[in-house]
Amino acid sequence: MNTLYLSAEDARTPEIAAEIVKSGGLVAIPTETVYGLGANGLDENAVLKIFEAKGRPQDNPLILHVADAGEIVKFCHDIPQAAYDLAQAFWPGPLTMVLPAKDTVPKRTTAGLSTVGVRCPDNAVTREIIRLAGVPIAAPSANISGKPSTTTAQHVLHDHDGNIDAIVDGGACRVGVESTIVDLTEERPRLLRPGGIGPEQLVEVLGDLIVDKAVTAQIDHDAVVKAPGMKYKHYAPQSEVVIVSGSREKAAAYIHAHFEPGDRVLCFEEELPLYDGCAPLSYGQESHVETLSAGLFAALRILDDPGIHRVYARCPVGGGVAYAVQNRLKKAAAFHIIDAEAEA
Ligand code: TXA
Ligand code: MG
Repeated sequence: MNTLYLSAEDARTPEIAAEIVKSGGLVAIPTETVYGLGANGLDENAVLKIFEAKGRPQDNPLILHVADAGEIVKFCHDIPQAAYDLAQAFWPGPLTMVLPAKDTVPKRTTAGLSTVGVRCPDNAVTREIIRLAGVPIAAPSANISGKPSTTTAQHVLHDHDGNIDAIVDGGACRVGVESTIVDLTEERPRLLRPGGIGPEQLVEVLGDLIVDKAVTAQIDHDAVVKAPGMKYKHYAPQSEVVIVSGSREKAAAYIHAHFEPGDRVLCFEEELPLYDGCAPLSYGQESHVETLSAGLFAALRILDDPGIHRVYARCPVGGGVAYAVQNRLKKAAAFHIIDAEAEA
């Protein structure tokens, strides 16, 4: 198949992309978080194509993307006031809410769950595509399953050129890590995945938040989890990733002492001079944490190279989007963290 390239700047793009969605095809769409691999979320056959193109396990549900918060009543029931409050505060934006699903949502989309994740993305062209298609777009991150997510159209084409109907190129994604996911189906709101909206921001609106254990620890493959995606290997390059925490000086001392030919260092721009001779790669500035979230997946893709043995990674501390960067890096490292302060 020839993958049609559509620029987000071309005025005809929304209509062309919406037609493909309506006819059951696959279109990669830009969002503020990462590129999604989109299809008509109400069409079981179209949704199946997403799973096949990504090589995604079918027990891992998809998020429905809507053009407007008002649409969620069509796909969800028993919507708590908290959902409206969160939508008011953060939509369009990098927040997904898990709510009880109506029967209008196919089981293929929800992977058989009675709940569905809904999100209104902060990308005007993508919202226009959804509006014109007249259906919600189901879209996981567009990467091949298990690989680092796609934050540019080039990443998407690398993974899917010739395998999907079209891609809408909207440039590099601003946030760079996937949306924050909050489950609102229980008594207390539960954070299932950190993302562009920090936990502190959620607490400001909700007054309460439980952090699911899948966020902070490795989950067994056969465990029963609230967010099925959290138990799968994720974001990881082919090489082993090890996080080295601690002060700049102690971390550099540890890495220099253990560095071997074929290893790489993934660090902050400010630290580049400390890693002469260690093939350092910067993914952004520690002093501007949003550059780290925006650059993380592109860097992990560069490091996804069979010639690299081990990657020593530096991870930001703190809340907000830094909390999401920590989560993605820890997952890429399978929670292998060395405290350089304790090693010294
Ligand atoms: O930012 C994002 O959320 C991107 C863009 C494209 O919107 N999408 C994304 O989708 O990251 P995906 O499929 O890569 O990750 C969605 C995660 C998975 O871990 C999945 O298990 C979880 O959300 N999820 C989806 N529906 C769920 C539900 N009903 N209950 C619990 N977890 C759910
Ligand atoms: Mg994903």
